[in-house]
Amino acid sequence: MDRYEKHIFVCINERPADNPKGCCSTKHSMKIFQKFRSEISARDLKGKVCATKSGCLASCETGPNIVIYPEGVWYNNVTEKDVPEIIDEHIIKGNIVDRLKRSPS
Ligand code: FES
Repeated sequence: MDRYEKHIFVCINERPADNPKGCCSTKHSMKIFQKFRSEISARDLKGKVCATKSGCLASCETGPNIVIYPEGVWYNNVTEKDVPEIIDEHIIKGNIVDRLKRSPS
């Protein structure tokens, strides 16, 4: 099987509520992951684009975080509402969604 044209990793890491690092899971990252999956199906992109659950991407304070390959572009503070725009702009048209892109630290 050929590799995917685009691979989206969504952090769904979960930590206890009292952990000072926080986690993407408490910021609804599983819903974001499920939205990517449903949008990929709805747009008939299965086989070309894949969304995969990821562990901690080590940027917990700015989560929910996702990273898209092969570009290696990171998006921070992603919400479920952002998913269609990321699919339309980044995945389909190849345009980075600047307002969500991780700023260099
Ligand atoms: S918990 Fe998601 S980046 Fe660390």
